[in-house]
Amino acid sequence: MNISIIVAVSQNNAIGNNNKLLYWLPNDLKRFKALTSGHTIIMGRKTFESLPKGALPNRRNIVLSTQKDIHFDGAEIFSSLEEAIRHCNPEEEIFIIGGESVYKQAMDLANRIYLTRVEDSTKEADAFFPIIDEKIWKEKSREAHSIDEKHLYPYIFIDYQKDI
Ligand SMILES: NC(=O)c1ccc[n+]([C@@H]2O[C@H](COP(=O)([O-])OP(=O)(O)OC[C@H]3O[C@@H](n4cnc5c(N)ncnc54)[C@H](OP(=O)(O)O)[C@@H]3O)[C@@H](O)[C@H]2O)c1
Repeated sequence: MNISIIVAVSQNNAIGNNNKLLYWLPNDLKRFKALTSGHTIIMGRKTFESLPKGALPNRRNIVLSTQKDIHFDGAEIFSSLEEAIRHCNPEEEIFIIGGESVYKQAMDLANRIYLTRVEDSTKEADAFFPIIDEKIWKEKSREAHSIDEKHLYPYIFIDYQKDI
């Protein structure tokens, strides 16, 4: 099974504040949509609640929660990451889309990280991505983008794979 993490991080690994994303980068959203559409996405309950229009279309939305009677339209609820993964098709690529608590749990299980590194470290943040151990994760590609009228910060798309 291919388990991929997808995340946008600042230079100091910040990913969110007050249950909101830190950056709005249209090209990053496009990449997220292109990579995840047609696949399964797994997220924590807080990340699901932060989505402005609820479940993301054209994807199987899985939400992790320990709460027994919780229900979200368009999403399946599982009470652990391992249980969620057991209910996924072993042939497909699964995307772990956050937040902090789920990324931490997924680092050992995942074999790929699609990272967007935003070249900024000024934002106040209360959620962070784990340090990527370069003994375990090997950079496979990177694509740098400059500031333009739609992107307030330079950003780099970096793909890592676990060397097993
Ligand atoms: N920059 C990015 O790419 C990106 C992407 C996604 C999210 N974020 C940011 O990340 C932040 C949210 O992260 P977070 O860590 O606070 O919340 P989170 O991981 O989205 O959700 C945490 C909740 O998920 C449930 N959960 C997590 N692991 C579980 C498990 N193994 N079994 C059962 N339930 C589990 C629990 O829900 P219950 O309390 O209901 O049990 C837990 O309280 C926000 O600021 C968000 O904007 C950033």
